[in-house]
Amino acid sequence: MCGIVGCVSEINATRVLLRGLERLEYRGYDSAGVAVIDGNGDLALRRRVGKLIHLMDAVDREPIQGNVGIGHTRWATHGGVTEPNAHPHLSYDGNIALIHNGIIENYEVLKRDLVGRGRTFHSETDTETLVHRIAEHRESCDSLYEAVRRTLAEVEGAYGIVVIDRREPDTIVCAREQSPLVVGVKEGEAYLASDVPALLDYTRDVIFLEDGDIAVLRPGEISITDHDGNAIERSITRIKWDLSQAEKGGYRHFMLKETHEQPRVLGEIMLGRIDAAAGRVNLVEGGEPVLPEDVASRVDRVVLIACGTSWHAALVGAFWFESFAGLPVQVDYASEFRYRTFHVDERTLVVPVSQSGETADTLAAVKEARRRGAPCVAIVNAVGSSMTREVDGVLYTRAGPEIGVASTKAFTTQLAGLYLLAHALGTMRGTLGGDAARARLEELAGVHDLVARALEQESAIESLAATVQSREDFLYLGRGLNYPVALEGALKLKEISYIHAEGYPAGEMKHGPIALIDDGFPVVCVATPGAVYDKVFNNLEEVRARKGRVIAVGAEGDDRIAGLADDVMWVPGAAEAVAPIVNVVPLQLLAYHVALIRGCDIDQPRNLAKSVTVE
Ligand code: G6P
Repeated sequence: MCGIVGCVSEINATRVLLRGLERLEYRGYDSAGVAVIDGNGDLALRRRVGKLIHLMDAVDREPIQGNVGIGHTRWATHGGVTEPNAHPHLSYDGNIALIHNGIIENYEVLKRDLVGRGRTFHSETDTETLVHRIAEHRESCDSLYEAVRRTLAEVEGAYGIVVIDRREPDTIVCAREQSPLVVGVKEGEAYLASDVPALLDYTRDVIFLEDGDIAVLRPGEISITDHDGNAIERSITRIKWDLSQAEKGGYRHFMLKETHEQPRVLGEIMLGRIDAAAGRVNLVEGGEPVLPEDVASRVDRVVLIACGTSWHAALVGAFWFESFAGLPVQVDYASEFRYRTFHVDERTLVVPVSQSGETADTLAAVKEARRRGAPCVAIVNAVGSSMTREVDGVLYTRAGPEIGVASTKAFTTQLAGLYLLAHALGTMRGTLGGDAARARLEELAGVHDLVARALEQESAIESLAATVQSREDFLYLGRGLNYPVALEGALKLKEISYIHAEGYPAGEMKHGPIALIDDGFPVVCVATPGAVYDKVFNNLEEVRARKGRVIAVGAEGDDRIAGLADDVMWVPGAAEAVAPIVNVVPLQLLAYHVALIRGCDIDQPRNLAKSVTVE
């Protein structure tokens, strides 16, 4: 997610904007820009690729004087990392500048209509459609506010937008739908930002806009309406957080913030990609199909390669490729794969999975696979990363920057991405269709609500963490789709709390790990309903018989698991196919709270790196 700053200020707006953008730098970005209404009533625009310092240099060389402006740090989602793709974007008539966070789902339709009316596009972004459409409406109405309101009535998707018009030099209009915006209140001035840290140098009195709000900011004046133009009252909140707390959105750690962002980002990865009624997934990036039809029909095997948490996501993904697309699937650690005599050819679909898109082993494996003629479609979070330039297609996971070293939202969005890709492959190959194709998509479409409900159990998990935090060994079990979830739960615990934790397929326990179990030995088991539920239950009986402590992830209302387990971390019931996306949430929270009690450095655990760019 990108950063937004805006101001109607008594001092030079450019200074305010650049300082605000600096406050958002910790989130990561690939380009930045500002637009200010200058002393002549013109829109002055400066944009640069790379670090903010480049934008600051540009502003130093050609200073802008003006009191109203908007600024942005971009983390690319549509279109590469280039200056024309950086925000703000200007309208065809040069009167309006706009910044947008989020995704406009119907931008292709809007763009086609605009091009049909002779509008020229200068970027590859979905955002540019908004600024041209607002300019068109502005020609037939007398305020920027009204033009924005009319445009938003035509838009589907998620957005936080901020807009200025040189004909209304004391005004900013902004609107929110699923992408955060905060207004800063101050006598004689007005500020806004996507995140509180950007405002704290100027004011601590803020209004958190809600979905559906359109706000108009003028000097010392803020008015908010809904999309029908009805006035809305929103209360002012006084921010008491310090800057470092504010960067974490009020959470103690980035990991916890990112864990709680999961419902939102899971919603975003599906935007514009699901046609539930038709039972089809629509995967297009930059106007090109992520998975071309001829590749889908040609391949007879899928190979998934990844490292770390991404490898766990790939293990879950294998189930979906097998069941939706009916193909044999191999999952490999990239570091192992690349040194084996592996077999891939033009009939093998290779799917690398990587949050950063920079992991050296995964990159090397992909290069070799492509050299041997295999089509590669990557699941990647970081737009413009090296991986995205090595492959034939990319499905972006749209999780936004992940700062905590222990991966959370990147993992669940990778799962959603793999699900979408497997579904697309299945429908293209004809192995998935009709009611089954629709049902699988409906299950995925509802998963972000289930994740939100799973997060509501945090205080119960916090209490549980207090009772196990002194243990030095844990076993994590799961079967089927939930086996990789157990691996991921164990990895989270060891990464951030330094407790030894081992993930195992529950059915394999009797071949070794069962020897570990004695009085009170903690065994965390993912035991939600599904094809292997009874089998898992039997494995847990074996743990109980040896006096181990059973800590289950169980589905709400499951009395059987409540009767067997010593502790249950409850999750809402989910369809078996999508349950891993929900079931990992309590395991993330358990690891977090254990590490917190043990006083560990949660966001930067010892010896670990966020991105491993060396072998
Ligand atoms: C590091 C990170 C992990 C990540 C792994 C693979 O070990 O700490 O969180 O899962 O690299 O990274 P990638 O960016 O390729 O997903």
